[in-house]
Amino acid sequence: AYVLTERGFLRSEQVAYPMEERGLQFGDGVYEVVRLYSGTYIWLHEHLDRLYRSAAAIRLAVPFSHEELAERLEQLRRMNDVREDAILYLQVTRGSFPRSHAFPAENRPNLYAYIQPMARKTEEMARGVRAILTKDVRWEYCCIKSLNLLPNVLAKQEAVERGAFEAILHRDGVVTEGSSSNIFLVKHKTVYTHPTTERILNGIVRTKVKEFCAELGIPFIEKAFSVSSLAEADELFLTSTTSAITPIVQVEETLIGNGEPGDVTKALQAAYQKATK
Ligand code: PDD
Repeated sequence: AYVLTERGFLRSEQVAYPMEERGLQFGDGVYEVVRLYSGTYIWLHEHLDRLYRSAAAIRLAVPFSHEELAERLEQLRRMNDVREDAILYLQVTRGSFPRSHAFPAENRPNLYAYIQPMARKTEEMARGVRAILTKDVRWEYCCIKSLNLLPNVLAKQEAVERGAFEAILHRDGVVTEGSSSNIFLVKHKTVYTHPTTERILNGIVRTKVKEFCAELGIPFIEKAFSVSSLAEADELFLTSTTSAITPIVQVEETLIGNGEPGDVTKALQAAYQKATK
């Protein structure tokens, strides 16, 4: 397979970084995950906009301009002849330099991007998934899509070990987001989700759900909800690039609604389907 790097296109076997790489040693970088359905990028420009925002927030210069990068990613897709459902993984780090916490004197970031097949999670989307609750122990700038994912990794691992699909994170009694998703609560046909503060990642699918709600006339309220309100929810769902819109039908031992995906969730899934055709 071909990989896009800061030096241009390479075969995946040729991609190697030195031991002293700031992404590896410090998590000093940012990333994006973009969906492809039947070989077409979904909301690529929205993802690239967020990549440049994340990079700017950590004072990192992305090697290419937005337009150059979009063009090269399209070329990457063509070179790999991607026609199936897949994801693009893209990361930019502050580069390879002798280990020292402070920024290197030179501006020489590393970038790589590759595409990997990934089927739609149809089963989960149709039936709904289980989630667990765990404490949000992350830093204060969760709005930056940084490579520092240790708290997210530990939360997801806890979910997997307890037979669940996702870990719902909470801080000071309120739900922030999932370990790798945004979380939504439906009550009386109104959708609630955490506002886009520094405490959560402003998900691309989250933004789209907001638009779908506007189109469908579903009230969309950006207000944090408490952990205790989960038990009284009519519906719950999560969103992410890899999982689209997925119903959550059980949290810990509590069934949500009647334990089946609800009508609002299903209407939003249909809108997503239509928008990504
Ligand atoms: N995760 N919140 C967190 C902490 C995330 O890591 C993600 C995405 C989201 C949803 O964002 P979006 O709708 O833009 O995918 C929310 C990606 C998919 C990942 O790390 O694999």
